[in-house]
Amino acid sequence: MDGKLIVFEGVEGCGKTSQIQLCREWLQSLGISVIVTREPGGTELGLHLRRLLLEKAEKQPIAELTELLLYAADRAQHVEQELKPNLAAGKYILCDRYTDSTTAYQGYGRGLNISLINQLNYIATSGLESDLTIWLDVDVEVGLARKQGNGDSLDRIEQEAIAFHKKVQQGYAELAATHPARIIRVDGNSSKEAVQQVIQKVLRLHLQELP
Ligand code: TMP
Repeated sequence: MDGKLIVFEGVEGCGKTSQIQLCREWLQSLGISVIVTREPGGTELGLHLRRLLLEKAEKQPIAELTELLLYAADRAQHVEQELKPNLAAGKYILCDRYTDSTTAYQGYGRGLNISLINQLNYIATSGLESDLTIWLDVDVEVGLARKQGNGDSLDRIEQEAIAFHKKVQQGYAELAATHPARIIRVDGNSSKEAVQQVIQKVLRLHLQELP
C-alpha cells in the first residue's frame, strides 16, 4: 500500500489533537501502519523552533517575516527527516498542521504576501502536498473558549486578538473553496464521536484503497 499524507487543519481549539488520536486508533484497527506528527515540532530541531515560536511574547516581539521563515524552516526539516522517509516506507502519516496553516495564519492572519508564502511553502516541501487535508471548522469563539476551558495558559499565537483568528478562519474557508479536491471541510462543532464518524467517512471516500 502506498504511503499517504493526511493533514488536519483549523483554528485554535478546533479539536485536531483528539481527532488525530481517534483516527490513529481506527486506522491501526484496520491493520494500517500509522505515524502521528505535527508542525511546528515534528523533529528535534523543530521542537526548539516550536518553543521559540509559541513562547509568550517577549520584550522584543518576533517580526512577521521572521515568524514566517521559522515555520518554513521547521517544515523543511520535517519534510526531509519525517515525511518523505515515512511515505517512502508506505506509512499513513497523520500530520497536525502543514502548509495551509502558513497560508491561513501568516498570509490571511498577518497579511503577508500570499504568493511569497506559496513560493516558500513550495521550497520548504519540495512540492510535497497532502493527499488529503481535513479542515475542522469550528467557530473561532467556540475554539478559543475550549482552549481557555482547558485551564492551559494561552501561547503567543493563541493570545492574538479575536480579529486575527477570524482572518485565519476566513483563510481556511478560502483555501477550501480554492482546493475542493484536496481540502475537505468537516463541521467540528458536534461531539468528538460524531466528528470522528464524519472523518472516517471522508477518508473512506477519498482514500479508496482503505481495507
Ligand atoms: P498547535 O500545533 O498546538 O495547533 O499550535 C501551533 C500554532 O502555530 C498555532 O497557533 C498555529 C501556528 N502556526 C502558524 O502560525 N503557522 C504555521 O505554518 C503553522 C504550522 C502553525
